[in-house]
Amino acid sequence: SDPDPLQDFCVADLSAGAAKVNGFACKDPNTVKASDFLFKGLNKPGLTNNTFNINVTSGDVESFPGINTLGISMFRVDFAQGGLNPPHSHPRATEIVYLMKGTLIASFVTSNNVLYSQKLVKGDVFVIPRGLVHFQQNIGYSKAVTIVAFNSHNPGAQVIPLSLFGSSPPISEDVLAKAFQISNEEVKNMSSKFTPP
Ligand code: GLV
Ligand code: MN
Repeated sequence: SDPDPLQDFCVADLSAGAAKVNGFACKDPNTVKASDFLFKGLNKPGLTNNTFNINVTSGDVESFPGINTLGISMFRVDFAQGGLNPPHSHPRATEIVYLMKGTLIASFVTSNNVLYSQKLVKGDVFVIPRGLVHFQQNIGYSKAVTIVAFNSHNPGAQVIPLSLFGSSPPISEDVLAKAFQISNEEVKNMSSKFTPP
């Protein structure tokens, strides 16, 4: 859902001083090579020994400058057994998920709080409408791997537990206590899990 490009391509100039408008400045076309349009590594498993037991390998514009302004990107997500891609939303993109390996439950919640949940098996494709909160859980007995694509070169991700309990500076305890109808002690406990040390 990015705006239409105004030229054939605009390989991002990620250098520090370069102007940013709606995206990144373009590299001088005379210096653009075929390899600017190549992104390698989505065959490589990511490390999943972490809080959610997943790994996201990001192919957004920052790691793949050739997609700058083209309204598209591709990621890989690895799930260990029991791994959870926690509730999150992509403010700038619809997501399409291809399950390459394993078994997942993929779910999203609409803006009027209806939950759509679907079991996916290898080869299935599932779509997550732009901006909606969604999550995937590995319910199989082995690893799961997805390849996901977005209609934005910079989909962004707001991970709900991190946005609310791990922001910097933190959201006031009273706000979180009232919002979730829990005690300040419970807020402290939740925050301790998501606040960077
Ligand atoms: C990644 O953003 C995913 O939802 O799989
Ligand atoms: Mn997602």
